[in-house]
Amino acid sequence: MLVLGIESSCDETGAAIVKDGRYLLSNVVASQIEIHNRYGGVVPEVASRQQLSSIIPVIETALDNAACSWEEIDAVGATFGPGLAGSLLVGLTVGKALALAKNLPFVGVNHLEAHIYANWLRKGTLPPEKDSAGAPWDFNEGDPMFPLICLVVSGAHSELVLVKGHGQYELLGRTRDDAAGEAFDKVARVLGLEYPGGPSIEKAALRAEEELLQQKKPVELARSAYRLPRAWLRGTYDFSFSGLKTAMLHLAEGATANQSPPKTYEAGKNSGTVNRQRSQYTHIGMQAAQKGSTNVALLAASFQEAVVDVLAVKTRLAAQEYHVKQVVLAGGVAANLSLRARLEQELLPLRIRLSYPPVEFCTDNAAMIASAAYFHLCQGEQSGLDLDVQPGLSLPFRKSE
Ligand code: KG4
Ligand code: ZN
Repeated sequence: MLVLGIESSCDETGAAIVKDGRYLLSNVVASQIEIHNRYGGVVPEVASRQQLSSIIPVIETALDNAACSWEEIDAVGATFGPGLAGSLLVGLTVGKALALAKNLPFVGVNHLEAHIYANWLRKGTLPPEKDSAGAPWDFNEGDPMFPLICLVVSGAHSELVLVKGHGQYELLGRTRDDAAGEAFDKVARVLGLEYPGGPSIEKAALRAEEELLQQKKPVELARSAYRLPRAWLRGTYDFSFSGLKTAMLHLAEGATANQSPPKTYEAGKNSGTVNRQRSQYTHIGMQAAQKGSTNVALLAASFQEAVVDVLAVKTRLAAQEYHVKQVVLAGGVAANLSLRARLEQELLPLRIRLSYPPVEFCTDNAAMIASAAYFHLCQGEQSGLDLDVQPGLSLPFRKSE
């Protein structure tokens, strides 16, 4: 079955053609990073306008790259939430319109669920129809095994989820304040690093470690250069990153104490104070950057270690408690190599398999949307064309049994 997936929840416009929910025929992403970089974060009005101008060319390119005609497409899937309302509206409306015009089944896809299904995607060539013995190819081979624990870590979500089967989600823990990706983005701004913060912090941390290697010193020294707090929230699988973020703000300010730091460090959560908070971060960030790149790199390495530490230990504890067969990572922060390596280290003694999508399927893309749509179709589920965007959508959690 060939599914056209469409993704437009934030600042990426994506279209992809995926066979049987796993095999990629094409995957096109138009990124707006350069446009939003100058603001240090995504500007919703700009994002939706860009979505509008990119969506049709991106879909046409996905069809071209897959050398695929409309007659070969079996269904259309598009994100309906969570995300920015204006951006979501563009992809969802186009997806529904195409399904109507081409008389195809339509599936509205939950973006978070799609991040989990990125673990079903494979790179490389399509499998043969028959195996070497002439039997039909077992195309489930290589799929993640249930029950599994998924650590969903994106720009807006940090959740530990027990997945017992397709569509069976149980929430074990979630962030009580900032999402992991959000913390990376805000701290990057504090350090004067580029948006998006995750890859910038990872790069800076790597630079700190390389410098130590050159000096023949252990790389761990970079990760422990600054003592940073970890919110363990013992007895729960919840996360909290706001204390860590504030500690970073103080450290960056301390590094530039002779240059009139702002008086307040934590702005309130209501929208009226968001701008103040943003400009304050940028202000300190510019000062931190002036202070010297080694300092910034060491701060980045120590911050990354503090986030990875909590994520990895809590995920391992959950995997142990629920006796899962596998742990999978999902969302943009799953691209982080330190997180992957540390989790590998935590799970190895337990003989629990860890898997994560290739980097390009961790951040927002439409291949994962097509994959999630396929598995809904397999369960006989599709959506009506009256489906509306749901910016605040969460995973469809079941109560624990
Ligand atoms: O899943 P995603 O592409 O979009 C959302 O659905 O939110 O995640 C974006 C987030 C951003 O906060 C970005 O800084 C973070 O993922 N991210 C990373 C890395 N690559 C992207 N965080 C840490 N390390 C990375 N390599
Ligand atoms: Zn995402």
